[in-house]
Amino acid sequence: MTSTFLQACRGERVEKVPVWFMRQAGRSLPGYRELRKTYGMLELTQIPELAAKVSREPVELLGVDAAILFADIMILPIAMGVELKIIDSVGPIINKPIDTPADVQLLSSFSEKRAEFLAETIRILRANLSVPIIGFAGAPFTLASYLIEGKPSRTWHKTKRFMMEHPESWHALMGLLSNATIEYLRLQIKAGAQAVQLFDSWVGCLSPLQYREFVLPHVQKIFSSLKEESVPRIHFGTNTSSFLQDFSNVDAEVIGVDWRIELKEARRQIPNKTIQGNLDPAILLTPWGVIQKSVDGLFEQVDFKKGYIFNLGHGMPPEADHTVIKKLVSYVHSK
Ligand code: CP3
Repeated sequence: MTSTFLQACRGERVEKVPVWFMRQAGRSLPGYRELRKTYGMLELTQIPELAAKVSREPVELLGVDAAILFADIMILPIAMGVELKIIDSVGPIINKPIDTPADVQLLSSFSEKRAEFLAETIRILRANLSVPIIGFAGAPFTLASYLIEGKPSRTWHKTKRFMMEHPESWHALMGLLSNATIEYLRLQIKAGAQAVQLFDSWVGCLSPLQYREFVLPHVQKIFSSLKEESVPRIHFGTNTSSFLQDFSNVDAEVIGVDWRIELKEARRQIPNKTIQGNLDPAILLTPWGVIQKSVDGLFEQVDFKKGYIFNLGHGMPPEADHTVIKKLVSYVHSK
């Protein structure tokens, strides 16, 4: 398979700029919305034939250059014995959030059996897909923040307090989650995932010092442990501009950035890795002329045919119109 996505991950020059979108599978696409009338979101991830169908939909409908496994970052904690539900338009709600250091001991280690359905989904996808499949996991900070807060938060005060008040237990929790993440991503790669992305969606709430002390060593361990698997590794976060040098200081081929930083500035700070991003998802909701101008603006800033993957700065908005997204994909390919 020649893939512009994989070529760009490796820093090779491409003919056409590869494009995919975070949260392209599920959310707004019609086939997914139809399936959701019958199945819950987590239920769907556990039916490999249907999950594979959801992963394939953006490839067929939008013409993107990579598929992402249909799953959720919370499947790993579930496979470690955490009880939770995912509420529509809200997010994960944990039955018994972590309150005290003693609660950390209650987490089990990762059980492969409890994630076997994902391996099956990946095998089905590999058998009938023309583009690479990206496997993924939530980064340990983002997972820990859900486990401690118990629900989505805007301040992450409970998480930060736990981290600073109980540093030993924090590192124990991050260590447990990191080891599980390594096994979880290895399982996806063994099943056929051709690249992996670590989503650290909420880590940008930390200060640079906090990031360096409480997060970076764990993320570094995850990425260096996956080196021998020989698939491209993507490190994505939002709000990371103030510590981008640290954030990119991991053994990964690709760094994902959001729109709060200019692409040329990201390129200046990360000269030797592929950059993925960073259109503001809100721009997808504006008239076509605005979208076009915004894409042109990004492409003026970097050598977009080498070491660059077009994506949004964060997930696709649920209300995005797939006919507009399809037009955007063609436009990026025409550059
Ligand atoms: O990219 C993809 O489309 C593949 C599948 C995928 C889902 N979740 C399916 C999903 C991926 C990559 C994720 C990652 C994820 N999940 C993240 C990291 C990326 C990010 O957006 O920051 C986070 C923080 C979560 C946790 C989560 N799951 C939240 C906050 C929510 C609810 C809000 C929302 O985004 O709609 C979910 C539910 C969820 N996960 C849905 C999907 C398709 C929505 C369920 C529905 O509306 O049918």
